[in-house]
Amino acid sequence: MLGNFTYHNPTKLYFGKGSLDGLNEELPKYGKNVLLVYGGGSVKKNGIYDKVVAILKANGKSIYEDGGVMPNPTVEKLNEGIERARAAKADLILAVGGGSVCDYAKAVSVSVHCADDAWDKYFIRFDDVSCDVVPVGCVLTMVGTGSEMNGGAVITNHAQKLKIGHVFGDNVFPKFSILDPEFTYTLPKYQMISGIYDIMSHILEQYFSGTDDNTSDYIMEGLLRSLIHSANIAVDDPTDYEARSNIMWIATWALNTLVAKGKTTDWMVHMLGQAVAAHTDATHGMTLAAVTMPYYRYILPYGTAKFARYAVNVWDIDPDGKTEEQIALDGLIEMEKWMKKIGLIMNITELGASKAMLDGMVKSTLVMDGGYKVMTERDIRAVLEASF
Ligand code: NZQ
Ligand code: ZN
Repeated sequence: MLGNFTYHNPTKLYFGKGSLDGLNEELPKYGKNVLLVYGGGSVKKNGIYDKVVAILKANGKSIYEDGGVMPNPTVEKLNEGIERARAAKADLILAVGGGSVCDYAKAVSVSVHCADDAWDKYFIRFDDVSCDVVPVGCVLTMVGTGSEMNGGAVITNHAQKLKIGHVFGDNVFPKFSILDPEFTYTLPKYQMISGIYDIMSHILEQYFSGTDDNTSDYIMEGLLRSLIHSANIAVDDPTDYEARSNIMWIATWALNTLVAKGKTTDWMVHMLGQAVAAHTDATHGMTLAAVTMPYYRYILPYGTAKFARYAVNVWDIDPDGKTEEQIALDGLIEMEKWMKKIGLIMNITELGASKAMLDGMVKSTLVMDGGYKVMTERDIRAVLEASF
């Protein structure tokens, strides 16, 4: 049964070719000082940086730069960004990049006017935001995380071997996001498919939970079918606009809070993937791909009916003459074949994990209780061992 909920998504989206023009509509709403946040340099190579700077200048903004945000942004970089935003007296933080850059901008935005240590407050204590938030806008260049339309931010603390996400409230969602599918054409294939799998995983994390009949599950089956179809096209032709725009739009809907409303969710693939990343710094979507099959095979006996529904409705498995368990398993086999076909990394060894890291990765895995089985330490160890 659908539980009670409040739904409000405050992010305004500008979607499609030429949507960067939307910046001209948004910038006048904010003060003069803009902290321009970007990653390791892709936006300078592909020309997006120059376009953004030209629009900022045309709107009379003072630009303060904060480049070098790394994939899986670190706590040290976050603290540096907070100082930069303070020094700039930023009226707006404009993130130009992927989920890492957009997440980082949000984490800075809730910390600028806050005296507490940002890591301890948000990522250890999970405190609510209790200080003024600097508005954030996002120009997306990498598709997958959904960060462009949600209040989440994931930060990595290498010293503590923790990679942790905090889901902030409505006031931390980007005020606006610009989604031009053509901005993603320069992504290396590794990043593109990693993003595609991140999207799939977000949907599945919310799908594989509960036994009730709710509309979200039907929406998610549709999103998954469209994702698989468009991904097959994009892998062969990365500049197919229709496929890339569909993937971009699915990513946003997969994690902008809509499909989770009124239902329970799992998120253990992400908890396992983040533990792997805390020890290897591997690419987010690949860490998810590498632990997915061992995890889903492990929990399948506890949620067989849903896995069978998934097999039939998403992977077109013919249920005739098969037990529910066989249908469910056939669905996973089909999914695994597809994951390998598009080029995902299917084990954590290739991502740099070693057996010596196993104890640490088990410790770094947070446990969520919305899935088909609440994982014990032993369960987590078994899944991670099967992921090497
Ligand atoms: O740093 P640059 O040089 O810009 O290169 C980036 C980076 O190396 C490159 N890239 C991005 N756009 C490009 C491009 N290269 C060429 N052309 C372009 N147009 O791609 C690399 C990866 O970028 P990154 O931002 O790290 O990827 P992604 O969007 O996957 O973000 C990953 C981060 O988001 C977090 C992850 O944990 C990870 O830290 N997540 C955030 C979530 C959220 N806010 O809700 C949920 C997700 O589950 C995820 O955990
Ligand atoms: Zn993810």
